[in-house]
Amino acid sequence: MIDYQSILNSIYNKVIQDKDKGQIATYIPELANVDKNSFGIHLQLISGETFSVGDSEKKFSIQSISKVLSLAFAMSKVGTDIWNRLDVEPSGNPFNHMSLLELEKGIPRNPFINSGAIVIADILVSLLDNPKEDFLTYVRDLTGDASIDYNYKVANSEKQTGFTNYAAANLLKSFDNLNNDVVDVLDFYFHQCSLEMSCEQLTKAFYVFANKGNCLFEKTRLTKSQAKRINAIMLTCGFYDEAGEFAFEVGLPGKSGVGGGIVALLPNKFIISVWSPGLNERGNSKLGMQALELFTTQTNQSIF
Ligand code: DON
Repeated sequence: MIDYQSILNSIYNKVIQDKDKGQIATYIPELANVDKNSFGIHLQLISGETFSVGDSEKKFSIQSISKVLSLAFAMSKVGTDIWNRLDVEPSGNPFNHMSLLELEKGIPRNPFINSGAIVIADILVSLLDNPKEDFLTYVRDLTGDASIDYNYKVANSEKQTGFTNYAAANLLKSFDNLNNDVVDVLDFYFHQCSLEMSCEQLTKAFYVFANKGNCLFEKTRLTKSQAKRINAIMLTCGFYDEAGEFAFEVGLPGKSGVGGGIVALLPNKFIISVWSPGLNERGNSKLGMQALELFTTQTNQSIF
């Protein structure tokens, strides 16, 4: 029997002592107002037990973690047809780079770099009657928690400063890979990224990927095959140009966001979320990566 609570406690006590907590993302001005000392972990076993430490119930901006949820929503609605508009290859580049997008004629490398997530947003804007409301309902249903909401200040803050995303969306449009207006698609995308959730809520939302497509609340949300494929993309593309490092150090499919959150999972076993807002040079939570490395090493559990 693994004593998960004492492992989480010891990881917490070790990592919070690190004086270099990384840098808070400030390119979205509203994200700068976060306490750098915040740190939380929540672990949910597929069998039902949960364990947590620190600020595990405090909500934060999930940012790019939302890209997994929007992909799941789009896949559950359109099936495999989305793959003629984007690829499933790691980009080896930062999340907002555009050089490959131009070279590869407007087909984003994968759904987790910004251009790929913008194509997914375009698909959802085309499909849904009320994209922002419908996506929020999807995430609330997955999590079983109606308190989840967008942070409109964060969404508007990114709207004011998201020039690179406007450039990416325009480039997609020039290659005929965006059907709706740039402004409408980005309005949806900025809101999806502004979702605020706690570590506890994120583990619940990601239960569906660890549990063969069945969410925590007994409604089937994905096929087994869709869950498998989304996990594969998390493993290969979830951390941008640090995906190899995350697989090497942690050994789990996962996804990060510039709000400092990371969710990772071991299929059929557990989901774990970590939040520490300071980022490393690659834009992933510095202490979050360390905590997850310690967790999989100390529990001797990973996909490898
Ligand atoms: O589009 C952006 O730049 C942000 N809304 C999301 C970026 C992000 O979280 C990258 N992840 N590590």
